[in-house]
Parts: sequence; structure tokens; C-alpha cells
Amino acid sequence: MDLRTIEAPASEAEREAVDAVLGPPDSGWFGGERSALDGHVALGGLRRANGRRHLLLPALHALQEAAGSISLPALGYVCQRLDLPPAAAYWVASAYALLSFEPGAPVVVHVCNDVACRAASGGDPTEELIARFGPAGSGAAVTWKPSPCLGHCEHGSAALVQRAGGGGGRTALAPFTAGDMERLAALGGDVVVLPPEDHDRLVAVVSHVPHLVAASLVNVAAEDAVQDAALLRLAAGGFRDMTRVAAGHPGIWPDVCADNAPAIVTALDHLQSELAAMRDRVASADRPGLLEALQRASTARRHLPPRGARPDRLAELRVRVPDRKGVLAEITNLAADLGANIWDVEIAHSAEDSQGVLLLAMAEEDAVGLRRAVVDRGYRCTVQGLP
Ligand code: FES
Repeated sequence: MDLRTIEAPASEAEREAVDAVLGPPDSGWFGGERSALDGHVALGGLRRANGRRHLLLPALHALQEAAGSISLPALGYVCQRLDLPPAAAYWVASAYALLSFEPGAPVVVHVCNDVACRAASGGDPTEELIARFGPAGSGAAVTWKPSPCLGHCEHGSAALVQRAGGGGGRTALAPFTAGDMERLAALGGDVVVLPPEDHDRLVAVVSHVPHLVAASLVNVAAEDAVQDAALLRLAAGGFRDMTRVAAGHPGIWPDVCADNAPAIVTALDHLQSELAAMRDRVASADRPGLLEALQRASTARRHLPPRGARPDRLAELRVRVPDRKGVLAEITNLAADLGANIWDVEIAHSAEDSQGVLLLAMAEEDAVGLRRAVVDRGYRCTVQGLP
């Protein structure tokens, strides 16, 4: 048989994406390093090839989500791994609406305009998208494409959001409206696509459990305050920052907890074991262990992804401010007048008096200029660079 292979090598990232699905190659015949044994033994055969053919689509999806499209060298690597003729893999990849050989926007919203969704919306649901967001495939960061049935016909409208690159993945939105498209477009491609179960697990850790922890901490402090009325008056900036969310409306939380109970319970169990380990370090005066745990947390906290583009040279302006109406507006207006962009803001309250410290993170040159203006207004203020 005249089997034509694709000889151009796939990139490292493409090979990693495929290997994540198929596992590492087990011989030089299937894309791995050629070993001495490969010169004497040839694995393969129809049975092996047929037994792995169901992995073709998952491997192609992995490539699509890693790079936003499937290059021919990457297709060649998949064929080598699965012992498939490239024509067969090409036929499969070109037949699926969710796979593309053409590079495009990192976020693609595949909007169903098949029979059931057309009938439910009284026409082609993509017409409104064309009018509001331009033709299919337009849009640099977020785009939309028409799609055949996505398997959510009972909702009357459906879309599948596909994200390529970091945080890649796909998830269905059903029902789907042009308003959803507008919200996605407004995010400008800054979208993390997660399956629902991963979403529930992650929000349990970063949102639901922090709220319950804050509430528990405030309750502990409030109970202790019954014996010692000075306790809450001494509550300093760290305690206030950490428990701020506990002041939120409690009415919504029983429903939130009921809705995501399994993930919240798992996260609370994890937290309990972490707290127990912390307790043991303190009880046994394990200074190095405590320091290591705190250092690990400090490093992880400092590497939380920023919410906006971080200036190259970041500095922190610390302004001592009185508890008086309009003081924050006065300082932030000064920043605006100077064209200084505030990257992050925090207020550290003083436990001892009615003063506080306003912490503004911004580009170093902005911080230096704002410091002069703030000092001219009579405030005490310092600037220090941030790592
Ligand atoms: S026809 Fe639209 S999801 Fe089935």
C-alpha cells in the first residue's frame, strides 16, 4: 500500500497535548525515541490499530484546545501514534465542526442553528449574531461559528464555548442567547472554560469555603469578646481584611451551600487537615515546619494571577490617612489628575486610633509623582518598590 505520511515534526506543545491523551509513545514506531529493540521488533498490526482508533477524536480535541487549530504536522503525529493513514484522520478532523485546520480566535462560541433550535427560535438564531457581532469567524479574541446539533435540543437554543490555550476546554451553554455572546465578547478572550464539576470544585475552594471560614472566625472572635470586650476593638487590618466577606448578606448562603454541598464538604475536609497540621506545628514548637508552611503560602499568595496588566516596575505608595469623609476621593482624584493608574488598592485600618494607611500599588514613576502631590496636601507618605 502506498501510505503517505506527514514528515514535518509536530511542535513540543503539540506532542505534549497528544501524549496527555494517549500516554507517552512506547516505541520508535509510534513517535517515540527509536531504540535498539525497534530494529528487531515491530509492534503494531490491525488489531492494535483498531483497538486504539477510538482515541483519534480525543487526541484531535486535545490539539484543538491546546493550539486553537490542528496543524498538519500535529495531525501527522497523531497518525503516527495511532497507526492511522493521514487521509483517514484528515477526513475525521475536517468533518467535525468543532475542529479546525485554520488558526482563529482563542475563544470560539459554536452556536447551534440546527432544526430544533431553529424551530424554537422561529428562524435561524445566528442571524441576530451576524447583525450584532459580524459574520461567523470575525472577532480577534472571541468569535462565533454556526454549529450542527449540540445535543441540547430540549433547551431550544444551545452553544458550545471552546477555549484554546491556557485554561483551554469546552463547555455548553444551553439555553443560549445573544446576551451570552455579548458577555463573552466583553471579556475580550479572558475566559476560563471549565466543565461544571470542575467549576463547582474550584469555586468551593476560592469562594464558598472562604466565606464560611470568615464567618467562623468572626463568630469565634465575637464569642471571645463576650469575655473580653476589648477584643473586637483591637481587631486590626489583617482580621478585618480576612473577614470582610462575613458582613455580606447571609440569606443567600444556605442556598449556595445546598447547591454545592459535596464540593464544599470536600474543601472543608482539606482545610481541616491543613489546620490540624498547622496546629501540630504550633503545639510542638516546630519552628522550621511553621516557617516552611508560611513561606509556601506567602509565595503562592504573591503569585496569584493579577487582575490587570502588571506594570514592569511596581511600587507601593503608603499614605497615612485620617478617618474623614472624602479623603479617599481626594487622593484618588489626585492620581487621576496626574494620569496615574492605580493597579491595586487596600486600606489597612489602625486598631489603636481612627487613622488608617491607604496602600496604592502602581507603576513606580506614577507612585513617585503622586507622592509629591500627596505630601503637598499635608499627608505623610512613603514609596517602596514591590518585587
Ligand atoms: S438542534 Fe440545537 S442543540 Fe439540537
